[in-house]
Amino acid sequence: MTESKFIASGDLEDAIAIVVGTRPGIVMFAPIIKAFERSGLEHFVIHTGQHYSPNMDGQFFADLGLRDVDHRIEGVPERRTHGGQTAAMLEGVEKILLDRRPRLILVGGDANTNLAAALAARKLHINVGHVEAGERSYDWRMPEEHNRVIIDHISDVLFVTCERSVENLRKEGIRGRIEVTGNPIVDASMQHAEIAAEHSAILSDLGIKPGEYGVMTTHREENVDVEEHLIGSLEGVDTASREAGITTIFAAHPRTTKRLREFGRTEWVESLANIRMIDAVGYLDFLHLVSNARIVFTDSGGVQQEACIHHTPCVTLRENTEWTETLDIGANRLAGSDPERIVNATRDALQEKRAWVCPFGSGDTAEQIVAIAAEFGRVPCETTGTAS
Ligand code: UD1
Ligand code: UDP
Repeated sequence: MTESKFIASGDLEDAIAIVVGTRPGIVMFAPIIKAFERSGLEHFVIHTGQHYSPNMDGQFFADLGLRDVDHRIEGVPERRTHGGQTAAMLEGVEKILLDRRPRLILVGGDANTNLAAALAARKLHINVGHVEAGERSYDWRMPEEHNRVIIDHISDVLFVTCERSVENLRKEGIRGRIEVTGNPIVDASMQHAEIAAEHSAILSDLGIKPGEYGVMTTHREENVDVEEHLIGSLEGVDTASREAGITTIFAAHPRTTKRLREFGRTEWVESLANIRMIDAVGYLDFLHLVSNARIVFTDSGGVQQEACIHHTPCVTLRENTEWTETLDIGANRLAGSDPERIVNATRDALQEKRAWVCPFGSGDTAEQIVAIAAEFGRVPCETTGTAS
């Protein structure tokens, strides 16, 4: 076993590591990986193995036109607790970093993947860059909130979506340099909307027409692991869809289908008249579904943003959101899992004019991140980490 020793900056290579591992992470990093490829900068991609089913992983590489990763950590899906999963990924990333010794590692978002990788790099004195830094729900039940806070505090460069995220970080006295770049989810949407329109057959496959259906996703553990919350959300969306005269396509995350099975509720969902449950779909099909939907119901962070980007009104099945600007501009409403609140929020959302301006950037976030990363990829770690 390699013994831990202090790694001086002279021991590092001028290379940048990019870490993916979950569905939203692959979407977020796709434009960044492509911008790295265009730049000619030395880089490599690590997959932590957190998401592994073809419709949560391989389909995204195909849809987003990404080559296979350089390193993939094995044995993670078997680990089913936060600690076990995070530990396996931390150890896996550490091994790769000890071998490759990049000067900078980029992580993105708030999944356990990012905490594990950021912590592995921090301990090895490798610069940490956090994409989508500074988001806060201030909901301490959420594993994502623990992860974000920790990652932000151990990062050297924090790529944030907007000024609100800067405020969040300033309040916490963050050490690293903050860069407002927008969110690469906008780049991904802009780069793939036309491709999706051309190649996705999801509407005809499902026999639905633009503007005549809703889209639903839910997967947060505090929602779907609690039967009352999951059933309340589904009842609310079913009633709201009936009232609106639409069918809602429910693209179920594997965690959610598993919980429905455990609760003995699969047949019940299938019997709902205005919800049609399907397995989670690939990125191009989902983009096409969201951009043509009458309304979106979700507890996902990325899907709230995508609804906003595509001017589709959103009802968020949570009590809070990180993306508060979507509420301010009328793109989104909070409804929790109470059926009556979901019905009321839907009535309200369907009245909305859809004229808001997207607050998450203009599609050049990846290029900005690569330019800043190039600078950090050459700077010794010891000289960074002061508040800007
Ligand atoms: C994780 C993230 C969450 C993110 C979500 C994106 C954490 C704490 N949570 O939640 O922030 O929003 O990813 O989708 O990191 N499963 C499969 N196949 C897969 C992946 C998962 O079957 O490819 C099932 C397994 O039963 C697994 C369960 O889903 O045990 C939960 O997966 P996990 O990666 O632990 O968390 P997510 O709910 O996906
Ligand atoms: N997504 C997808 N297919 C689906 C549901 C979601 O391609 O069936 C994509 C969606 O376009 C977005 C990302 O997954 O880019 C969001 O991931 P998720 O909701 O799993 O995680 P979160 O954003 O909440 O962390």
